[in-house]
Amino acid sequence: MSKSKRIRRSSPTNQQGTRRNLFGQSQKVIIGTVSIVLIGVLVWLPKENQAGFPEVTVYKSPTCGCCGKWIDHMKEKGFKVITHNRQDMNQIKQEYGVDYKLRSCHTAVVEDYVLEGHIPAEDIRRLLKERPAVDGLAVPGMPAGSPGMESKNEDLYEVIAFAKGKKNAIYERH
Ligand code: CU
Ligand code: CU
Repeated sequence: MSKSKRIRRSSPTNQQGTRRNLFGQSQKVIIGTVSIVLIGVLVWLPKENQAGFPEVTVYKSPTCGCCGKWIDHMKEKGFKVITHNRQDMNQIKQEYGVDYKLRSCHTAVVEDYVLEGHIPAEDIRRLLKERPAVDGLAVPGMPAGSPGMESKNEDLYEVIAFAKGKKNAIYERH
């Protein structure tokens, strides 16, 4: 008698205990899964943003006004811009392989591409999407009507793709 009572009493307690444990575990699994998904989304989102709007490092002379306007244009189009004011712009252009006839005011770098002058942001987006085998793009000089060089009289200008040891090519016409 006493033995069977003990069994009867102990068995529902055990089952309940098991049920509670199982429920507790499945809750933990759900919370765990939701957390992993949330963390995944949080980690993935900034990466997506970075892919869409990569960071551009700009070197410019401290007194260049149109450089600042080009930087504003880039920011408006969603790029993150880091600016370095430098006195040795010719040295920088030399280092980044920007030929004399391609030179403009500022020199910038995005991922592994060099950006010389007032290149429209849309062309840079295209460059990063297509990823051609070039060293970079350049808008030589300072054509009126290019981003940061807004003017009533707009010049026709070309965006040039350049690479060391290769002939310059027209990447875009504006
Ligand atoms: Cu300029
Ligand atoms: Cu500039």
